[in-house]
Order: sequence, then structure tokens, then C-alpha cells
Amino acid sequence: MKIAIEQAKKILTSGGVIAIPTETVYGLAAWLFDEKAIRQIFSLKGRPAHNPLILHIGKKEECLRFCPVLPAGFNELTDAFWPGPLTLVLPIDSATIPAVARANLPTAAFRMPKHSYTLELLQSVSPLVAPSANKSGSPSSTRPEHIEHDFGADFPILDGDQCEHGLESTILVSNEGKWQIARLGALTAETIASVLGYHPLIADKNEAHPICPGQLLQHYAPKARLVLSKEAYNNCPQKLPYVLGFDNESYRGATKVYSLGSKNDPQLVSYRLYDLLRQLDDDNVTEVWVDIALPKQGLWEAIFERLSRAASR
Ligand code: TXA
Ligand code: MG
Repeated sequence: MKIAIEQAKKILTSGGVIAIPTETVYGLAAWLFDEKAIRQIFSLKGRPAHNPLILHIGKKEECLRFCPVLPAGFNELTDAFWPGPLTLVLPIDSATIPAVARANLPTAAFRMPKHSYTLELLQSVSPLVAPSANKSGSPSSTRPEHIEHDFGADFPILDGDQCEHGLESTILVSNEGKWQIARLGALTAETIASVLGYHPLIADKNEAHPICPGQLLQHYAPKARLVLSKEAYNNCPQKLPYVLGFDNESYRGATKVYSLGSKNDPQLVSYRLYDLLRQLDDDNVTEVWVDIALPKQGLWEAIFERLSRAASR
């Protein structure tokens, strides 16, 4: 059910949960200090309690309310990229943030999203916690129709059209004075390096002490089984009738090619990715061959990571 901003404010201030648009993917939002609504988000998504939520804020100064110390580089990064697809994990004063939102961690993740409707909403109700608006483990939602599919036609959605990027925000965490990438995303490592003056490394995925708990879970997966291959389709020993591929490539013998766009246009590929993964399920495809002979830099790194995670079960 599509709602306008005034109604969105009313629902959020009276204990409800709504879907909100951002430039990356849609989020399922509740007010940070409404623990009952936050628990409802976990239950709607089927999300494990140990996977913390991102706090969405309308002004970077709001971080000062929760974070006694801001790591070096905070101002440079936020001046350059907020509002925008960058999330920063920051040490907090834990008395200021309900434990349920941050899965009891001594840190919290913050981001200022770049969507005019959500920024307007954040002027009146802030911070909003918002995980991606999808069932846990499944592809994120980039259009209102995806949310209706996952949560029903009556679920309140602040309709902000199709998300500009289509991939989640990049998450950075500061480790011994250097920022590291805890989740690849819509903002590339190269772009971040242009501000930091060094290339942020990918943070260690230590299973015992994960920096970013959500990164250990199976994710972004449609019901269809994805078969990843770098081999040319024509040399592939096991030919599958369905292909998730690209324009201007030959997949001879395929019954149907779901095209993500051009290998020269990663922005368009990320814009389409989750919509196409969801379309496979709508078409009852059970197995699909995925062309992952992709460039190794920029946005392709995040696209490759999403496809790999979607394929792992
Ligand atoms: O683009 C986005 O970031 C979207 C939109 C809606 O803002 N949100 C999003 O939220 O992708 P979610 O919950 O689907 O993914 C958040 C990730 C999870 O992997 C979680 O483990 C991690 O952020 N995270 C949250 N708080 C954290 C913290 N304190 N330390 C480390 N990782 C954290
Ligand atoms: Mg998510």
C-alpha cells in the first residue's frame, strides 16, 4: 500500500514499521527508540537477533549524540559521501542506543541516505533503523512491487520509485587508524581511496568475531539455484537452458537469456540485479547459469560478491 510522507510520519511515531526508499535499496524502517517496532522488523524479516541494524540519520551531527569519539577520517568521508551510499561503523556510548538495534555490539552503523522523501522524513523522525526490505537471505527490494511481494499488498510503503543504485551501501569500519571495507557496495573502493588517500582493504572475515555479522549469512539468494561460471557458455560441459548474462554475448543453445545489461555499464547492471534475481523466481526458473567473466574492479567487485553469495547454499 503506497503512502505519502505525512502518513509515514504518523505510522512511525505511533509504533509502526514502514518501507522507505533510499538511493541503494528499500529499507524496513522503525524509530530507533521504539524497541517493540524494532523487534517487529526482526520478526517480519525472519532476521537473526545477532545481526545489527543500520541507523539512518538526516544530519551528520546526529552521530555526536551517540559517539563519544569519532575515528580519524570521519569528517572527510562524510563531507564527501553523505548523503550517499556509505555506512560507517562507529564506537558508541552503549547507553544511548537500544541493544536490540545493535545486536548488543559496542559499535553501531550509521548512514545518511540520499533520497529526498526519506531525508524529509528524517527531519521529523530520526534516527530510523532500517535493514533492507526483504525476507532475510533473499534478494533486496529495489522497487515497491518487491516489498508487496515479500510483505503483502497492505504493507505501508513510502513510494520513492526504483532505487537509483540497486546495491546496498558500502560499509567501512575503522581498524587501528585505517578504514577497512566490511561490506562491498554501491560506493567503490577506488572512489573512497580518492578521499582517504589510500585504498581501503577488505576486512578479515573472522568467523569467530565477525566485524559485520550479516556478512557471514547466506544472502541475496533467489529460490533458483545459481551456477556460476567463468567459462564461455559454449565450452560449458553442463549446459543449462537459462542464462543470467549480458548483452552482446553469445550463449548459444540457451532457451532464455536474462540480461543484466552491458559489461561496459556496471551501474545499469547493479540497478537491475535484484529485480532480475526476483524475476527468475516469478518465472519458476529452478537453475540458471551465471556468466561471471567480469572485470575485477570498481562496482563489478560488489556485483560479483552479491552473485557469489546468492549462489552459496
Ligand atoms: O544500503 C543499505 O545499507 C541498506 C539501506 C536500506 O540503507 N540497508 C542495509 O541493511 O543493507 P541490512 O540490515 O540489510 O545490512 C546491514 C549490514 C548487515 O550485514 C549488518 O551485519 C551490518 O550492516 N551492521 C550493522 N551494524 C553493524 C555494526 N555495528 N558492526 C558491523 N556491522 C554492522
Ligand atoms: Mg540486507
